[in-house]
Amino acid sequence: MKLDIEFVRSQFPAFAEPVLQGQAFFENAGGSYTCGAVIDRLTRFYTQRKVQPYAPYAASMLGGAEMDEARARLSALLGVEADELSFGPSTTQNTYVLAQAFGQMMQPGEAIIVTNQDHEANTGPWRRLSERGIEVREWRINPETGHLNPADLEDLLDEKVRLVCFPHCSNVVGEINPVTQITALAHAAGAFVCVDGVSYAPHGFVDVGTLGPDIYLFSAYKTYGPHQGLMVIRRALGELLPNQGHHFNGGTLYKRFTPAGPDHAQIAACAGMADYVDALFAHHGGALAADAATRGMAVHDLMRAHETGLLQQLLDAVKSRNSVRLIGSDKADARAPTVALALNRPGEEAARDLAARGIMAGGGDFYAGRALSAMGVDPEKGVLRLSFTHYTSQAELDQLLEALDDVL
Ligand SMILES: Cc1ncc(COP(=O)(O)O)c(C=O)c1O
Repeated sequence: MKLDIEFVRSQFPAFAEPVLQGQAFFENAGGSYTCGAVIDRLTRFYTQRKVQPYAPYAASMLGGAEMDEARARLSALLGVEADELSFGPSTTQNTYVLAQAFGQMMQPGEAIIVTNQDHEANTGPWRRLSERGIEVREWRINPETGHLNPADLEDLLDEKVRLVCFPHCSNVVGEINPVTQITALAHAAGAFVCVDGVSYAPHGFVDVGTLGPDIYLFSAYKTYGPHQGLMVIRRALGELLPNQGHHFNGGTLYKRFTPAGPDHAQIAACAGMADYVDALFAHHGGALAADAATRGMAVHDLMRAHETGLLQQLLDAVKSRNSVRLIGSDKADARAPTVALALNRPGEEAARDLAARGIMAGGGDFYAGRALSAMGVDPEKGVLRLSFTHYTSQAELDQLLEALDDVL
């Protein structure tokens, strides 16, 4: 079945917004449009339920129940238990808390592995553990292709390694890393695995339970939701790591790694992300009786098929231009629709020229300076990044290709 793009776009108020008409959005990796279901829930929470949750009066009970609903439904879509999912202010803040917990658990002389493909959020906080005597080993990308080779990881693994951190896909290289294969290598060596799924999750929720990592992180504001970081921490690891919350919350898995009070309204509104996935599933003929992880993966596959069709056209249009270095693979099947181009001028300049042609795109290093430097791209100059999702239409892609003809 093909994705019904008209139905998809009807679920996002931004596409009907007069001030955005004529503007084609290609900076989705920075933050997506928000679906109507999320906006409606947020409005309802702020107008009807904005009181301290979990108290014995109606507005409060409804607010608390909606927060629980968000965790229950999203965790089910992700194929994990409800208390294995927690919400924090952002993925970056979540990794800082997790790194603190690992720092308290690990002994000097033990090691972690980080990559130079990651966004800073899933590498900087871990690298700082070296200040506590923990050895930090770097799993490096191929400087030409940006590829992370699992065989190179094998050379870094030994019995000292407690944790391997890597991205599901990088926000500049775009290549989809084989999470299950990498996780199996790390687990065989006795290490835990932390995957940054921020650049992948907007292209479909995955069944994290089946995929295998111990930690899977992503950001709701890039995934059609409000500004929250979602973090799956599997039980065995979550109960082993020291509690980072109030001492009396330590017995509740989903409270152990979110020391601050949560943003009640935004957590409740995250249930709208599940509403959206279920609406897509039902619209495309799915039987809602199917279990949640199955629904999630079916919607993932619908999104991905639409995206790869558009993505290959974009890759073909840029890959052989003399003025462009395409970062990462030129095969849509191998990557997410997050396409970084190194030019002979700053990426931001090109983004400005595109803006004049109704294209919303970004330029810079996107906090992935380590990956760009490793590939010989000057992070000061940065790249032009063109990123889209399943709600992007053929007409918008055509508008982009036409504008690129002028600008590149
Ligand atoms: C791949 C990747 N990881 C992590 C982050 C950080 O996410 P947050 O803004 O929720 O801290 C980003 C944000 O751009 C990202 O692109």
